Amino acid sequence: MKVQSASGPLINGYIDPTLVPQRTLYTGARMPGIGLGTFGSDHVTAGQVAAAVEDAAAVGYRHFDCASVYANEHEIGYALEQVVRRHLEREELWITSKLWNDKHGENDVIASCRKSLTDLRLSYLDLYLVHWPFPNFHPPGCDVSSRSKDAKPYIHAEFMKTWRKMEELVDLGLVRHIGTSNMTVPKLELLLRDARIKPAVNEMELHPHFQQPQLFDFVRSNGMIPVGYCPVGSPRRPERDRTAEDTVPTEDPVIVKIANRLGVHPAVVCVRWAVQRGQVPIPFSTNRSHYLANLEGVVSEPLTEGEMHEISTIDRNCRLIKGQVFLWKDGQSWEDLWDSNGEITPP
Ligand SMILES: NC(=O)c1ccc[n+]([C@@H]2O[C@H](COP(=O)([O-])OP(=O)(O)OC[C@H]3O[C@@H](n4cnc5c(N)ncnc54)[C@H](OP(=O)(O)O)[C@@H]3O)[C@@H](O)[C@H]2O)c1
Repeated sequence: MKVQSASGPLINGYIDPTLVPQRTLYTGARMPGIGLGTFGSDHVTAGQVAAAVEDAAAVGYRHFDCASVYANEHEIGYALEQVVRRHLEREELWITSKLWNDKHGENDVIASCRKSLTDLRLSYLDLYLVHWPFPNFHPPGCDVSSRSKDAKPYIHAEFMKTWRKMEELVDLGLVRHIGTSNMTVPKLELLLRDARIKPAVNEMELHPHFQQPQLFDFVRSNGMIPVGYCPVGSPRRPERDRTAEDTVPTEDPVIVKIANRLGVHPAVVCVRWAVQRGQVPIPFSTNRSHYLANLEGVVSEPLTEGEMHEISTIDRNCRLIKGQVFLWKDGQSWEDLWDSNGEITPP
């Protein structure tokens, strides 16, 4: 293990990326244990996100979580090009992108990936995810009550047609790994049974108030890496993704107490906890002091065993991103999307 300098991990505004924990995927590839999220939540422009990506690479980030639906891959592509031109080899970066819900069709998957590659100015992706398991288009920024008239439930045979095309992307050398996002245990069981190339990760909502222990354990015990989105509870998520019942992990007394001990923002405690628990958090920020603090947090003093235990007791099972727009028939509730009784909700 690499030894930090006596003055701490932050030297001249830079964190040595080799200090950042890495996660080994089943292929043997190593993924940086923290990434920068790039969804501007409708209030940060594509240009601001791209500028943050470029600067985050300069301060030590090596992993970026992108998606076509974030409508900023074109701008991020210019930023990545600068990064590679100025100071890094492409191989030093980990770039993820995602297939959006209106591109699950057999003729759309490869074209959609190629579009992301063109926009991101890359010849390959480290990881390509199916963003949601539902093939239901809804316009970006739409209200949670919006429903597609063609909305469909999860139909495994249909999903496998999409997955076969994801596998082809690996065969073509366009992506090094494929994975899922927003899946559940019963859906993953079917996919693991039928996949030729297994998912390397499942990206899922994970923060101290939504720890998803069952899915987390399932993902890990099946050789996948859990990638955690909304790791600090997405305090600036769009209005449409808020309900009165939502809780705020960064205001939890346990998190605040630990933050006070360490002299950091509670967000940093959430990120530190995530890495220590074994998931890969992808916190978003375009504020340099914030994204630097998050990276510094994961290479600084660990939380104690007692603190890790205390955080394990504050789970509120509070899902923030409920996915209402994916519901496919009247009278359903968002819980139907998440197979909470252990079975895929019937069509
Ligand atoms: N697969 C999926 O379906 C899915 C769904 C949602 C999100 N994601 C991915 O996950 C990423 C993260 O999720 P998210 O952006 O919704 O939530 P998040 O990372 O939990 O929260 C981001 C917010 O936290 C604030 N923040 C971050 N670090 C901070 C710090 N050290 N101190 C104070 N405030 C801090 C940021 O504010 P400032 O900007 O002011 O710093 C930002 O507004 C997204 O960007 C996206 O890449 C994936």
